[in-house]
Amino acid sequence: MCRCALLLGLIVVMSPAAEALDNGLALKPTMGWLHWERFLCNIDCDKDPNNCISERLYMQMADVMVKEGWKEAGYEYVCIDDCWLSRQRDAQGRLQADPKRFPGGIKKLADYVHSKGLKLGIYADVGKNTCAGYPGSLGYYETDAQTFADWDVDLLKFDGCFMDWNLLGEGYVNMSKALNKTGHSILYSCEWPLYEWTFQKPNYTAIRETCNHWRNFADVYDSWSSVKSILEWTASHQDVIVPSAGPGGWNDPDMLVIGNFGLSRDQQESQMALWAIMAAPLLMSNDLRDICPRSKELLQNRLIIAISQDSLGKQGYRTAKVDSFEVWERPLSGNRLAVAMLNMQEIGGPRRLVIEAVPGWRKCNPLCNVTQILPQYKEMGLQTPHSKMVVSVNPSGTTLLTITPISSNSQGLYKLHWQDTSVKQKRATIL
Ligand SMILES: *[C@@H]1O[C@H](CO)[C@@H](O)[C@H](O)[C@H]1NC(C)=O
Ligand SMILES: *[C@@H]1O[C@H](CO)[C@@H](O)[C@H](O)[C@H]1NC(C)=O
Ligand SMILES: *[C@@H]1O[C@H](CO)[C@@H](O)[C@H](O)[C@H]1NC(C)=O
Repeated sequence: MCRCALLLGLIVVMSPAAEALDNGLALKPTMGWLHWERFLCNIDCDKDPNNCISERLYMQMADVMVKEGWKEAGYEYVCIDDCWLSRQRDAQGRLQADPKRFPGGIKKLADYVHSKGLKLGIYADVGKNTCAGYPGSLGYYETDAQTFADWDVDLLKFDGCFMDWNLLGEGYVNMSKALNKTGHSILYSCEWPLYEWTFQKPNYTAIRETCNHWRNFADVYDSWSSVKSILEWTASHQDVIVPSAGPGGWNDPDMLVIGNFGLSRDQQESQMALWAIMAAPLLMSNDLRDICPRSKELLQNRLIIAISQDSLGKQGYRTAKVDSFEVWERPLSGNRLAVAMLNMQEIGGPRRLVIEAVPGWRKCNPLCNVTQILPQYKEMGLQTPHSKMVVSVNPSGTTLLTITPISSNSQGLYKLHWQDTSVKQKRATIL
């Protein structure tokens, strides 16, 4: 049993390191669906018409997103990834969709998606070629930005393959400017830091000024080891990357793979909880036409989505790592706090964790209301600074709580009390 004490100090609200890209978008982490992890570069529509990269796939996803409650839950963008392109640009030098797989063209697909009240995302690459070898945008930034604007596309995922890394920043900045110049608001999803980390520490001030979200680390796979590696990378770089997240620009740990084949129920809950704590874009890559009810319920869990979309717009930190438990905390609006506790021990059964406030932790002074959201909803009632809360966490699972401070007397009294606090620590303290 582990006795962890969660400390108030994390609530210290810092402004993001820099101004966000000023296009009015991504004020909250983007929500939607993106084809890559599940459908990859499947272009064989003769043999596999249901799963190949074609306009049909996105139209069907859009249909399901409206019919099955996804749109209502907040999932808005239907996003194309690599392999939508024709091998050649057209006579005017513009990108064009593969005519066989996208007979109506992208403009018509965008119109269709818009008619459902959803938005369309597209994919291109800052370098000479896309990662799968289709034409890249190097030398064509303005042409391609204008093409996407003419098609009424709403989001661009801009990959970083086949690019001289010395020109990476320049390329991403130039495309950002080209998108702006079109006069259309197009959400700009970058992979700039991912490709730059190999060579040097990226400039997150510049990245935040340029992009609406940015991939930092390797592609997600449909496995717990992949999800774990992303969490570990994020935690071990959190002092560098977390301050750059905020309304208008977010760290992107890649897609949600919930509803596929590789994650157990507990692991799916862990991914959902931690992506919410990380203020990550929630871009599902799964087959919404065929998804099990439990995964669907998890992905549509309103309380977790509310943490993800919280108006304070602060990304959380890993605040403790002890005895194969990890504690992650995200400050929320209204002085609330979301806390995720992961059991990283992959042997044995559920393990108990005791959480108690350290002296001076004033969030629950005089009282706070604690709600467990995962593994199932449970009111844990009013707690004081002296409460000991016991949670039980499955192997590779997560217990997710929200902590809401309340005053037993008056709000005013509580606020006075609150302003008195001078606790400055940024990390949880382990007793
Ligand atoms: C272009 O950038 C300017 C200045 O940053 C901003 O005010 C404007 O809204 C942007 N336009 C679009 C379409 O993003
Ligand atoms: C970015 O734009 C500048 C100014 O037009 C240009 O000199 C530079 O070559 C461009 N870089 C890339 C990688 O396109
Ligand atoms: C990072 O980018 C910002 C904004 O573009 C710039 O002002 C700053 O000088 C850059 N920092 C470094 C270390 O290059």
